[in-house]
Amino acid sequence: DGDKSSDVVWHSASVSHDDHVQLNGHKAAVLWFTGLSGSGKSTVANAVDLMLHQQSVKTYVLDGDNVRHGLNGDLGFSDADRVENIRRVSEVAKLFADAGLLVSTAFISPFISDREMVREQLPNNQFIEVFIDTPLDVCESRDPKGLYKKARAGEIKNFTGIDSAYEAPVNPEVHVKTAEKSIEACALQVIEYLKANNFIS
Ligand code: PPS
Repeated sequence: DGDKSSDVVWHSASVSHDDHVQLNGHKAAVLWFTGLSGSGKSTVANAVDLMLHQQSVKTYVLDGDNVRHGLNGDLGFSDADRVENIRRVSEVAKLFADAGLLVSTAFISPFISDREMVREQLPNNQFIEVFIDTPLDVCESRDPKGLYKKARAGEIKNFTGIDSAYEAPVNPEVHVKTAEKSIEACALQVIEYLKANNFIS
C-alpha cells in the first residue's frame, strides 16, 4: 500500500542512549539556533562547537547551507519547503542526540510551530532554543552573501524578513544579541547555560 512505514517494525538497539551518555561523560542535547539570515547563527554555533570540542564534548553541527546541498537539496524556500526542511533536520538532530552528542543546528527555522514540533519530539529538556536576536537592519547591513540586496531588488522572492515571515521565539532558553557583544561572549552565553543546567561540567 501507500503507507511505506506500515510493515516496518522498530528494532531496539543493544547500546542504549544512556550507555552513549555514560561513555561520553556528558548529557546529550540539541542547541537549536534560530534567527534571520545573516544574524550569526552559524558563526555562534561553530564558536560554541569549538569550545565544547576543546573540552572533549562530543559534538556535531548541522547547518542550513550545508544540509541544503545534500539531504535537503530538493527543497526551496516556500513555507511548505521550510516546514519539510525543519522536519528532516529535526529527525537527524534527534538521531545524533540519541547517539549522545551535543548537536548544534543553524537554520532560520522561521515558524514557532515547527520549532515547538522539534521540542516536543525530543526527550525531556533536550531541546535548547538559542535565539540569535540580531535586528533586521544589522543583518541587512552585514549582508554577507548579498542576498538582502537581491531580495530588495525583487530578484529573490520569499526572503525571510523581507517578504517572508520570521516568528521570533517568545521564551528562548538562551537569548543572544550579536550586535551588542563579541562572538566569543555570545558563545560563552550558551556554554554558561549548558553548565548551569548540568549538560556539561
Ligand atoms: S529555513 O527557513 O530554516 O528553511 O532556512 P535555512 O535552511 O536555514 O536556509 C537559509 C539560508 O538559505 C539562503 N537563502 C534564503 N534564506 C531565506 N529566505 C530565502 N528566500 C533564501 N534563499 C536563499 C540564505 O543564505 C540563508 O542562509 P543564512 O545562513 O541563514 O544566512
